[in-house]
Amino acid sequence: MKPIVYLDNNATTRVAPAVIQAMLPHFSERYGNPSSMHSFGGNLILDVRAARARVAELLGAQPEEILFTSGGTESDYTAIHAAVSSNPDKRHLVTSRVEHPAIKNLFEQYARHGYRVTVVPVDQDGHLDLDAFHRSLTEDTAVVSLMWANNETGVLFPVAELSQATRERGIVFHTDAVQAVGKVPIRLDGTGIDLLSLSGHKLHGPKGIGALYVRKGTKFKPLFVGGHQESGRRAGTENVPGIVGLGQACAQAPAHLADMQDRVRGLRDRLEAEVLRRVPNCLVNGDRQARLPNTTSIAFEYVEGEAILLMMNELGICASSGSACTSGSLEPSHVLRAMGVPFTAAHGSIRFSLSTFTTAAEVDFVVEELPAIIVRLREMSPFWHQAQAARG
Ligand SMILES: Cc1ncc(COP(=O)(O)O)c(C=O)c1O
Repeated sequence: MKPIVYLDNNATTRVAPAVIQAMLPHFSERYGNPSSMHSFGGNLILDVRAARARVAELLGAQPEEILFTSGGTESDYTAIHAAVSSNPDKRHLVTSRVEHPAIKNLFEQYARHGYRVTVVPVDQDGHLDLDAFHRSLTEDTAVVSLMWANNETGVLFPVAELSQATRERGIVFHTDAVQAVGKVPIRLDGTGIDLLSLSGHKLHGPKGIGALYVRKGTKFKPLFVGGHQESGRRAGTENVPGIVGLGQACAQAPAHLADMQDRVRGLRDRLEAEVLRRVPNCLVNGDRQARLPNTTSIAFEYVEGEAILLMMNELGICASSGSACTSGSLEPSHVLRAMGVPFTAAHGSIRFSLSTFTTAAEVDFVVEELPAIIVRLREMSPFWHQAQAARG
């Protein structure tokens, strides 16, 4: 098997070896149900409690403010459901144009059910239109949901500051921090953030486990009713192996975070600088300062992102494109369209996302191989030849 060069860590990450070790006993001898009266099962609540404390510690929160869910999507749904159903007199919701489909599609569903939804635009660098954001807040606003870090471009929204404006007006503030946790420092104390979503598999934990931070005192109504688990806030037998794995992932996140801020950022910058130097007609999507240290979205003009991905795949290089294949047509992503990235560039956009497991040799391999791929694809691209002819 050819070696894999995995630069798709915003899609999912490798489960860290220590996380696997922590989880293993919970698939074999420690298989009990934490709700059982007998100590074989019941004692597992101690493992759940320890994991909750580890998640809370990473966020600067209290353990009782952490609720385990099945992942980022469920955390997002739970948060918005809680905010909307706890404020039944308010019928207005605010979000941004660049949210992940977990939030985007949920808000569209609320709009279909008669809620008024304001979708705040971003500028060409992916930054939120702050005037439009402040103008959007009304007496009728039930919840604001803005992501901490964009999954495609890595651009950061200043959610801690933005949440002060909602706090002053008594509006619930939710942030989808699925891409931020483990990549940038997060301290919730002192902010106006009431609800925060995270997902285990984005920070070297397992898939199918996530958490929702619910600030103490925030009105809450569960999405799942049934058993009394999670203090009645999320029914269903606890995913103990996943919870323990998430706890371990959060415990080692500060070490990964330090590596991210320094070594991984350096590798990302090298990848980006070398690609821009070696390949003509390409540009970086989004602000290059206020963004995640592991992410770069590079637009290669006049080529199809999917074709680049396929050719990189032949070499074992894993990345993502900025378009989604819908009903046979290749639509550029809503994020790049919201930023006004020109059509010819949005179509050829590739997201590279690194992790603490990424090596310099892997980055060098991509830098060596990618330019020839782009040359070959442009040779086949009528748009490229037209553009060249137009330039004379
Ligand atoms: C910003 C963001 N929110 C939510 C999700 C969904 O998380 P999950 O896959 O754990 O449901 C993702 C996953 O890509 C994401 O990037």
